[in-house]
Amino acid sequence: MNIQRILQVDSVTKVYGKGPNKTEALRGISFDVLNGEFLGIMGASGSGKTTLLNCIATMIKPTSGKILLKQNDVAMFKGGQLADYRGKEIGYLFQEFELLDNMTARENIILPLSLHGMTGRQAEGELEALARRLDIEDVLDKFPSQLSGGQKQRVAAARAMISNPSIVLADEPTGSLDSKNSKVLMDKLAAINKEQQKTIVMVTHDANAASYCSRILFIQDGRLFHELRRDLENERQESFYERIVTVMAQLGGGSANVL
Ligand SMILES: Nc1ncnc2c1ncn2[C@@H]1O[C@H](COP(=O)(O)OP(=O)(O)O)[C@@H](O)[C@H]1O
Ligand SMILES: [Mg+2]
Repeated sequence: MNIQRILQVDSVTKVYGKGPNKTEALRGISFDVLNGEFLGIMGASGSGKTTLLNCIATMIKPTSGKILLKQNDVAMFKGGQLADYRGKEIGYLFQEFELLDNMTARENIILPLSLHGMTGRQAEGELEALARRLDIEDVLDKFPSQLSGGQKQRVAAARAMISNPSIVLADEPTGSLDSKNSKVLMDKLAAINKEQQKTIVMVTHDANAASYCSRILFIQDGRLFHELRRDLENERQESFYERIVTVMAQLGGGSANVL
């Protein structure tokens, strides 16, 4: 496996508001993401997970600290570079899909490409391969209102990956899905991660979804609390799931100092 660091998060803090309204959402978080990793981020509601992903995506600015993608400080990107970073280097998958209702699945998926000047024919080739991987070939000409939640999320996943981004960021991607559709989505994301070495950073509440990851960071009150690694060859997913549930119980019980 290529162990190149693709993303470095270095002492990142984020403070929202001022005075009595001040919230310290991130209190100094540092970690690296390796190329090809499937990293999970878990933590209670309000622990700072979305803030962290949004900092990485440059949707918000950290109060202090640095985020480097392939050795480049993302805070230094301006103009076209920043647009390229957001549009091509990062793919974002949201809990609520965020598809445009008046466009077909196909149009939703290729929208990021049209915004970045890729030609129709190139786009079609990419789209076909992705649609096959995500099992949405049959719904490409339907509108979001005609799709199930699971299909919508797989269309959204195709949109997040169509520009072949260096990293896919996913914020609770199974949060609006039933368990069957969650499993279908996770199986597909895991296959894409494995076969294409696509780097994925996924925030989740769901121990089942997290058990597909190769490593999990647990955050509590804006700080790193614990880390679990799975040896993909030697540890079964069921056993990793059990370890995840154990840490979640410790997080929930507020016994942060036992680990
Ligand atoms: N735009 C904002 N303005 C003020 N406070 C915010 C904002 N976004 C998030 N917060 C606060 O920051 C903390 C972390 O939120 P968030 O990153 O959304 O956590 P999570 O995704 O883990 O639920 C919470 O206390 C939340 O209320
Ligand atoms: Mg969140």
